[in-house]
Amino acid sequence: MQNWSLKDDIRDYWSARAQTYDASPGHGIARHAEIEAWGRLIRRHLGAGEGRKALDLACGTGVMTMLMHGLGFEVTGLDFTEPMMARARRKSDEAKASIRFLTRDAEETMEPDETYDVIIARHLVWTLTDPDKAFADWLRILKPGGRLLIIDGDFVRKHWLEKLLPLLDRLLGKQQDGHSLLTPEQWQHHERIISQVHFKNGIRAEETVRFFEGAGFGALKIDTQLEDIRKARDIRLLSRKGLTSTLQHRFAISGSKP
Ligand SMILES: C[S@@+](CC[C@H](N)C(=O)[O-])C[C@H]1O[C@@H](n2cnc3c(N)ncnc32)[C@H](O)[C@@H]1O
Repeated sequence: MQNWSLKDDIRDYWSARAQTYDASPGHGIARHAEIEAWGRLIRRHLGAGEGRKALDLACGTGVMTMLMHGLGFEVTGLDFTEPMMARARRKSDEAKASIRFLTRDAEETMEPDETYDVIIARHLVWTLTDPDKAFADWLRILKPGGRLLIIDGDFVRKHWLEKLLPLLDRLLGKQQDGHSLLTPEQWQHHERIISQVHFKNGIRAEETVRFFEGAGFGALKIDTQLEDIRKARDIRLLSRKGLTSTLQHRFAISGSKP
């Protein structure tokens, strides 16, 4: 008998990750070139900010929230993990930005119909429990013509070479460096969550497209080459990080509300 829901478990996991999240590879953005590369990706999918209303779903520590603010959007950040959001709020205060933050479930935002011009969600979809419901909610809160941008990756189905990397690390006596900031308990927690979410077998661009189409989004744009961002992170191709980020299936997909 269990009276603790999967979402409570997800929130606990991210509460524990908040402290090291920004320093983990692929999460925080440290270099100016990377900010510019993300800006190019966002503008390609969502257009210029120009004061339009943007919702950053599962904003976490505010990495994308601050980027969207810098691009001229009027941003709301939404997440359900307070320790992650505390960091986002701090960044917003330090930048004297007027960003609104909501503590809510991203799968059921409770925002009024037709509120936003654009919605962005980086690294949220892999962890959804009911993606059909979530995509329908996001369509509902977009204005007609508004666009949703999903940025995600398959961190479950690994390329055979990627599977060999931890073995190589162990042979060389090194810690895993992809998520070296995770404790063994956090790893177990992560695996337990993955085994219960909708995309327990990993998430691919083609499957995500089906959720856009199923909810009624049109004018889809699909990017499976996020080379520009990898290059801007200045990671050597023949390093552990370089190989991991090249072998992983990462993608960005956007679609419009008719
Ligand atoms: C991998 S982090 C991504 C954070 C941020 N989007 C970024 O790109 O840096 C995942 C975030 O999703 C949030 N999250 C996961 N499921 C959620 C849900 N159903 N509702 C709200 N937030 C959720 C977690 O609290 C966590 O902050």
